[in-house]
Amino acid sequence: HSGPSINRRALLIGGTALAASASLVRAGRAAPAEPNVVELTAAAGRVPIVGAPYPRTDVWCYGDRVPGPEIRVRQGERVRVIVRNDLPEETTVHWHGIRVPNSMDGVPGLTQPPIKPGESFTYEFTPPDAGTFWYHPHSDSLRQLGRGMAGAFIVEEPTAVSVDRDLVWMLSDWRLTSEAQIAAGFGNAMEAAMSGRVGNTVTLNGAVPDEVPMRAGERIRLRLVNTSLARIMSLRFEGHRPVIVAIDGQPCDPHEPERGRILLGPAMRVDLVIDMQGEPGRRYRVIDDFYEGLSYWLAKFVYEDKPPLRAHHLEPSPSLPRNPLPEPDLAAAERHELRLQGGMMGGGMMGMGGMQGMSHGASWAINGTSMTGDGHANMPPLLTLRLGRSYVLTIRNETAWWHPMHLHGYSFRVLTRNGTAVPHRRWADTVLVPPRDTVEVAFVADNPGDWMMHCHVTNHQVSGMMTVLRVA
Ligand code: C2O
Ligand code: CU
Repeated sequence: HSGPSINRRALLIGGTALAASASLVRAGRAAPAEPNVVELTAAAGRVPIVGAPYPRTDVWCYGDRVPGPEIRVRQGERVRVIVRNDLPEETTVHWHGIRVPNSMDGVPGLTQPPIKPGESFTYEFTPPDAGTFWYHPHSDSLRQLGRGMAGAFIVEEPTAVSVDRDLVWMLSDWRLTSEAQIAAGFGNAMEAAMSGRVGNTVTLNGAVPDEVPMRAGERIRLRLVNTSLARIMSLRFEGHRPVIVAIDGQPCDPHEPERGRILLGPAMRVDLVIDMQGEPGRRYRVIDDFYEGLSYWLAKFVYEDKPPLRAHHLEPSPSLPRNPLPEPDLAAAERHELRLQGGMMGGGMMGMGGMQGMSHGASWAINGTSMTGDGHANMPPLLTLRLGRSYVLTIRNETAWWHPMHLHGYSFRVLTRNGTAVPHRRWADTVLVPPRDTVEVAFVADNPGDWMMHCHVTNHQVSGMMTVLRVA
């Protein structure tokens, strides 16, 4: 292991543990007419991230654990989440990627008042789409997300997709001290103007990962969720051929990843179907080699020494049923451009050209204007979109850094990258835009309200790379 983790301990992330967490949430499932009720408490906690002999890590979290409890409902079922705030500061919860009504979106000031310490707020909505989503705070985001507040939100297809196991990998990045405590300095201005706070320890479902038991011949669905503040991942699976079946929760045409790598920026999700065709008794690494010279292995598949689960080869990977997303009318769409600006350049100069709106303390801007923080009342929208109309947004990255751009309340079609059509019918709520690249996305403005659009490198978001789109 050549990566920056300070320690690794043997941890078996088994099917049993996952099944147990799922049934925990299922216990709250009522008849379809009644909402699923989930109680979620945000509070300080102490969890064994690195493991003995290191002390437990002081975190902020949901339900006294990292990651927070998995919420799992079926498509079309209503869910009510009662959030209690036992933190020493305000919070909110944002349901990342779920097309909720605006009042349930969890942006303080803009869509709801913040939840004060000791108070509660009830979120209630019916997720329209099946898929892999997640929840996280939208208040003091750098510290709250960076200290461990994140959980998976899985919406199951109405009829089960046929796989042997459904695994969720919540991937997080931490900057830990040698005492396994979260390092201070979340608001570092230099870091904010560059790649953001990339840590030194990556966890899989809240623990420094090691071995993941597999059975030869089984077919798994693996849901990857990158909950990092800033770390981008590029995952490859030694000896395996994963098939991408969904991106950001939305089904795509099943396809093998380009160059065998799954690129996962902050907040992004990818659902894979993998036929486990390794040899019994052998180990295979899952490697992240996004940052040059800093590659490390994220997990090892360890095959049980048992005969394969099935002798025959399975049919090609199943394609998931489509979600009820309105198809944008590209011919009639209105077009707008979003230019991503600012940040530190290679030579150490700030990219300030044409950024009159850059406010004090901001490093980044969209179209010359910087909106900082996590959400505010009465933010003037960058654009007002007409309800029901189709839009194409051209996102032009004029900076030297990567930006995973997220739009609340919507999934959009990713149409082109640098003028070339993006294949596989790709939808997303967070699109990773490399330095100097241009992407075009399209959607029907069918969900009314004021919606945040921001970079999900949290340091970039809070220091200016954020705006509001109004749909009215
Ligand atoms: Cu995960 Cu404002 O977003
Ligand atoms: Cu960014």
